[in-house]
Amino acid sequence: MRQLRVIGIGAGDPEHVTIQGIRALNRTDVFFVIEKGAQDLVALRREITARYVEPNHRHRVCEISDPRRDREAGAYREAVEDWRARRADLWSLLLASELGEQESGAFLVWGDPSLYDSTIAVLEEILARGTFAFEYEVIPGISSVHALTARHRVPLNRVGGAVQITTGRRLAQYGFPAEADDVVVMLDANCSFTRLLGEELEIFWGAYLGTEDEILISGPLRDVAEEIEQRRGDARRQKGWIMDTYLLRRPS
Ligand SMILES: C[S@@+](CC[C@H](N)C(=O)[O-])C[C@H]1O[C@@H](n2cnc3c(N)ncnc32)[C@H](O)[C@@H]1O
Repeated sequence: MRQLRVIGIGAGDPEHVTIQGIRALNRTDVFFVIEKGAQDLVALRREITARYVEPNHRHRVCEISDPRRDREAGAYREAVEDWRARRADLWSLLLASELGEQESGAFLVWGDPSLYDSTIAVLEEILARGTFAFEYEVIPGISSVHALTARHRVPLNRVGGAVQITTGRRLAQYGFPAEADDVVVMLDANCSFTRLLGEELEIFWGAYLGTEDEILISGPLRDVAEEIEQRRGDARRQKGWIMDTYLLRRPS
């Protein structure tokens, strides 16, 4: 039976890769690398295989161009489902042609595979179709949320408290969740925190966490929002892409 691994590789620093991850890398015959356009991200995955895969371990790398996702579509959920289905079509063809019956393959997933990543869902969709069989396991990774809290040296939750993880889109649509005190925001292309300047909040913001371009800013939201927006815009223009995450916290 073909074996697949979904390996969390951490959020940008090659040293985020765990010992479990390194062992899994060294049991893999074919690495499937998803090409999403940002070359730095593909480069990190290459660096990880170059750094941790033993020189005498024979392996192949198969790069997959990601199908285009319609980001303008009004119905977000339907657009994501359509994109996943097209990924499943493409991946099942590639897996069938690139992976021998007795071989193992791996997907190197940014951060942790359980957090805003569709690899597990796409593999489940392929299995549900019943046309291509394999077994798979998931190796956890350091998520950008944990890279963020570590770099700011803050706990994610407060004593006995709950934490909500959400997206920029939801924050913009619904505002700061009424029941929450601590909210992590990911996938925010529009600095949605600028809509909350009327609220008493603290922000811990990080971009390119774990990389040499890392930027960290924290403070009362009202005081630092403009600086974050400015630095974010400049960095994005300079590099051509940005990944940022932040924790919003009501004062205790
Ligand atoms: C598609 S999600 C993938 C999350 C990933 N699975 C994880 O565990 O962090 C991409 C989002 O993660 C966040 N992110 C990932 N890597 C990051 C980094 N190095 N610095 C800041 N934010 C990051 C950003 O919010 C970005 O929009």
